[in-house]
Amino acid sequence: MSEAAIILAAGAGTRMKSKNSKVVHEILGKKLIDWVVDAARSAGIEDLVTVVGHRSDQVIEAVSDRSAIAHQKEMLGTADAVSCAMEAPQLADLHGSVVVLYGDTPLISPDTIRKLLDIRNEKNASCVVLTMRLDDPFGYGRIIREDTFETETATGEVLRIVEQKDASEAEARVCECNSGIYCFDADDLRSALAKIEPNNAQGELYVTDALEIMKSEGKICVAYEAEDPTECLGINSRYQLAEATSVMQTRINRRFMGEGVTMMAPELVWIGPDVKIDRDVVLMPNVWLFGNTSIGEDSIVGPNTRLTDTFIGCGCTIDETVAIEARVDDGASTGPRAYLRPEAHLCEGAKAGTHVEIKKSTIGKGSKVPHLSYIGDTTMGQGVNIGAGSITCNYDGHNKHKTVIGDDTFIGSDTMMVAPVNIGDNVVVGAGSVITKDVPDGALAVARSREKLYDGWVDKHKS
Ligand code: UD1
Ligand code: CA
Repeated sequence: MSEAAIILAAGAGTRMKSKNSKVVHEILGKKLIDWVVDAARSAGIEDLVTVVGHRSDQVIEAVSDRSAIAHQKEMLGTADAVSCAMEAPQLADLHGSVVVLYGDTPLISPDTIRKLLDIRNEKNASCVVLTMRLDDPFGYGRIIREDTFETETATGEVLRIVEQKDASEAEARVCECNSGIYCFDADDLRSALAKIEPNNAQGELYVTDALEIMKSEGKICVAYEAEDPTECLGINSRYQLAEATSVMQTRINRRFMGEGVTMMAPELVWIGPDVKIDRDVVLMPNVWLFGNTSIGEDSIVGPNTRLTDTFIGCGCTIDETVAIEARVDDGASTGPRAYLRPEAHLCEGAKAGTHVEIKKSTIGKGSKVPHLSYIGDTTMGQGVNIGAGSITCNYDGHNKHKTVIGDDTFIGSDTMMVAPVNIGDNVVVGAGSVITKDVPDGALAVARSREKLYDGWVDKHKS
């Protein structure tokens, strides 16, 4: 093992004003800490140790399948947090690179992490620190290089990092900031951590002091300025969470537009990181695509649509639809105002129209449920037409029951199908029927009271 990463996630995140851990807040349907874990893994790092403290239950639940856990008992500072991780059994034998990441800095890209690892190897450095130049550097640690006070764009070796609260007036004017993300040589880090003391304005153990210690021992410390400073955006408040969401939204939408997806108003389209979209798909305004959703070529999605873990085939029209764990095959259409719940499956060319809700049901090839219907726990054949306002009564107050409808059957409007019930192939059901008994193939079923007529009734009752 020669590469590992530490993710610091013990902080309380007070400014979020939340009962939850800061790092389980979400960007585009994915937890902050998951973004960081995935970035490290995409950069090729398999061994991860996450440092937990505040609301450790939530952080452990989020990452323990992909990361080892180290508990930080007291928040003594970033150096103490890093020490906790380095003492974890997973890192005890590490000789090589260890990257330090923050659970609340989710926009970091795998490329940048890889770059830090490569620079460390190339320069044989004890530390590579990721930096950013900010117009308003207030609050951040400042990067002091050999030539910082000689030029605006210093590029020399790093001497040390000074925290805001410890900075002199001149140091506070420096605009190059510490992102808090580093790549260390594991052995040099261990030896530096042992020497760090809390002699600073906050009485904390600063991991940033490791650089000065390394320098004093003649080791090499390199600063690498991020090409895209938004990668270093840390999230301390709900406002910054919104800002980071917007940065990520732009990144993802640009990528899809580059791959041939049309967006009428990209600022009104939110796409999660695991979504797949083919070319020539059109996304209208107010579209949310989350989880493992995928959309096939030539489909039109939106406006006002939210799809979670849903498969959409090619050439579909998905208008004002909410779908969760649903499947819509090629050429099918939904909405406006359709609700597809888990295990709803529209086969090729099928339709779930206006104000239609479908749950755990298969709507066969070319079958149509055009208006105002609820279909649940149903298997429907091909070429079926369900009249407006028809409902499968699948729940008796205790249990759910199945409805089966054969091929080419016509269900009249406002039919109640009281499950369990089997309706055969080529059946016609009269409008307004309440079907409680099975209907054999080819039959007409009518289950409603007959109409009575009273001639001249209106005239007789005129006052
Ligand atoms: C830190 C850096 C600063 C840098 C900034 C970037 C130090 C001393 N300073 O400052 O140079 O510009 O990040 O955002 O490192 N954490 C723990 N345990 C602790 C302390 C912190 O897990 O005992 C975690 C926090 O949850 C947080 C991260 O480490 O995610 C940073 O800690 P914080 O105290 O916010 O450091 P900053 O003051 O922001
Ligand atoms: Ca911070």
